[in-house]
Amino acid sequence: MGERRFEPVGPLRGEYLPPADKSISHRAALLAAMADEPVVIRNYLDAADTRSTLTALERLGAGIERRGDELVVRGVGLRGALETTGGLLDVGNSGTLMRMLPGWLAGQAGRRWTIDGDASIRRRPVDRIAEPLGRMGAQIAAREGRYPPFTVTGAQLRGIEYDLPVASAQVKSCVLLAGLLAEGVTEVSEPVPSRDHTERLLVRAGVPFERRGRRLRVCPVDALELEPIAVPGDPSSAAFVIAAALLVPGSRIVVRGVGLNWTRCGFLAIAERMGAVIVGSREPEGSFAPEEPVGELDVAAAPLEGTTVAPEEVPLAIDELPLVALLGAFADGDTVVRGAEELRIKESDRISAVCENLRALGAEIEELPDGFVVHGTGAPLRGGVVDARGDHRLAMLGAIAGLASQAGVVVRGIDAAAVSYPGFVDDLARLTAASA
Ligand code: S3P
Repeated sequence: MGERRFEPVGPLRGEYLPPADKSISHRAALLAAMADEPVVIRNYLDAADTRSTLTALERLGAGIERRGDELVVRGVGLRGALETTGGLLDVGNSGTLMRMLPGWLAGQAGRRWTIDGDASIRRRPVDRIAEPLGRMGAQIAAREGRYPPFTVTGAQLRGIEYDLPVASAQVKSCVLLAGLLAEGVTEVSEPVPSRDHTERLLVRAGVPFERRGRRLRVCPVDALELEPIAVPGDPSSAAFVIAAALLVPGSRIVVRGVGLNWTRCGFLAIAERMGAVIVGSREPEGSFAPEEPVGELDVAAAPLEGTTVAPEEVPLAIDELPLVALLGAFADGDTVVRGAEELRIKESDRISAVCENLRALGAEIEELPDGFVVHGTGAPLRGGVVDARGDHRLAMLGAIAGLASQAGVVVRGIDAAAVSYPGFVDDLARLTAASA
């Protein structure tokens, strides 16, 4: 487990190109593997999670070829995974892969796979996909009825109407993918909007798909057809660097090539409400276009004030809520996040991990069952030690806290950042080098 110290630095300056979007990379590879013709993916994320996806797809018979910065995926067709022998699929640390892949496998009648992953994955529930897939006719048998390892036994599926009990893009995507192989229509309703990358890609793949408010309908198809997919920069990875630029006085960076899909921009809206200066147009709320919007953001450090995050903002900023806590710790006044109990079942229990780690750095923060309240004083955190608990986003949170702190932060387990952002430490070093 790598340990690294992040010292207080001078301002972040310059242009910043975030790594490729993790969510879109997983989906692009998965849909490409379900297509009949080869699909070109540009700017596919090269990180531990998205490598797990490629390895799993290769086991299912897909061909993966790297050509410069392009990936060519030779798919097996929608029902092609039937030709494989079944067996064990290792998802590593990836919850998205673990919950989306079974949507496809569930429709491969008569085949069975076992899905497993690392220690963190084994604590993450799969009953949320077992329930709808079971209703569609597949069988999912999980450890203690809930956790990996679990087996997926495929069947001829039937379409269902499904009201998602939680706003989860992973579960929504799983049911929509299964709907491609089901008899009849599959309808999914979400309680509040969550990231919609799967829906956009389905439209691009020629799938009969309809979206009316929060109700989504998909019809079965014989084949998917996909033009080359260009993966934009990841707004969730960029959020760490943006937070650093907001917190380190005098910073000003220009973020280029970042995805600005409105279902991923919750953090920017929350930060702006706190006083952040972020210039750049984003996709209007409620938009739905097949192409992912990409653009530029100009970010400058500013004094921050506390805010209250509304429940419907939670899914739009779910992976950035630890950063909202960090901003809150430097802000003046209280920052309140409620309705975010989903954070407890991420790569770590992110409510307790964020509270314990930020408290260790000098923050005043109260843990709630479904969120936290940070009592900010407007002064920088003291510093100390952050334990990443094997969670990539906690590792990066600790590093950003260190750059903005008074006395520096040691991050235990910084290697975890490579799950989504292998170039993280180098990018920070480059952006702070000008002022070193
Ligand atoms: C993701 C959805 C979110 C998010 C995760 C990626 C996705 O999870 O936290 O990092 O790519 O669909 P949930 O669907 O469980 O909310």
